Amino acid sequence: MIKNKIIIDTDPGQDDAVALLLALASKELEILGITCVAGNVPLSLTSENARKILELTRYTEIPVFAGADRPIKRTLVTAEHVHGKTGIDGPVLEKPKIKLQSKEAIEFIIETILSYPKDEITLCTLGPLTNIGLAFQREPRIKTLIKEIIMMGGGFFEGGNITPAAEFNIYVDPEAAAEVLVSGIPITMLPLDVTHKALTSRSRIESFRKIGNKAGIATAEMLDFFERFDVEKYGSEGGPLHDPNVIAYLLRPEFYEGKYVNVEIEVGSDLTRGMTVVDWWSVTTRKKNVYYIDKVKDEEFFNFLIERIKLL
Ligand code: BDR
Ligand code: CA
Repeated sequence: MIKNKIIIDTDPGQDDAVALLLALASKELEILGITCVAGNVPLSLTSENARKILELTRYTEIPVFAGADRPIKRTLVTAEHVHGKTGIDGPVLEKPKIKLQSKEAIEFIIETILSYPKDEITLCTLGPLTNIGLAFQREPRIKTLIKEIIMMGGGFFEGGNITPAAEFNIYVDPEAAAEVLVSGIPITMLPLDVTHKALTSRSRIESFRKIGNKAGIATAEMLDFFERFDVEKYGSEGGPLHDPNVIAYLLRPEFYEGKYVNVEIEVGSDLTRGMTVVDWWSVTTRKKNVYYIDKVKDEEFFNFLIERIKLL
């Protein structure tokens, strides 16, 4: 089987953790490395959390790298109010035995992309885009070599989740996001407009628990915690499971629908910092730079996730 080579850039985060588990469970993917960034919680925790998640599986040889500990220009904003103090509150997980790689994440991203032929590596980004933006600034040649970027970020019809205008990943580092959106690389965006249609529910969480393996039980415990905040905020039955949609889209694009559009990032205004301005109706002649997903078959998505986590 020819595997799809990916680098996962992440800030775990319960939903990042489930995305990692889905990728680890998927034989079609070769995870070249997991690069961590400051986001939901500071870098020391996101880079520890990624290793804790690997240790729920047998794939403990996958290298984990620490990257940027703050956005390119801004002060770091974190989201402990959503994810808890550790970022993956819920299960009790031991300190990881896996060591962090000594190489820095941005260096790893650059070296890896330069060492493969053009169009072999897909970047899956689940957090603020700082590591990617910095890699582009340091070595612009990699922009011509990356096959695709699939990212969780943005929101338009749903508005924002950290301010009325902005989604968290883009808000934290709008300059990095802007750098990525003008890169010319094919980009698929999974914004709040789609992740707000992929809601957990009691029965979905119980299905994870019933799997009975370490990954399934930890997923249920993480989602028990994660759901609380969102249910209160949105008044829905469950909370949106954002980041696993990136990996699910890569493996099962038929679950999703979207449209090619122009997306630009607001970096100037304080009021709308990090807003993803989507030209949904093509009212400008700006270049279409993003495949913007707005629909998911949520039942298929959750069933797929449950089937895959059973394999761990
Ligand atoms: C995004 O922000 C984080 O809180 C989640 O992990 C997800 O990547 C949703 O806005
Ligand atoms: Ca995330």
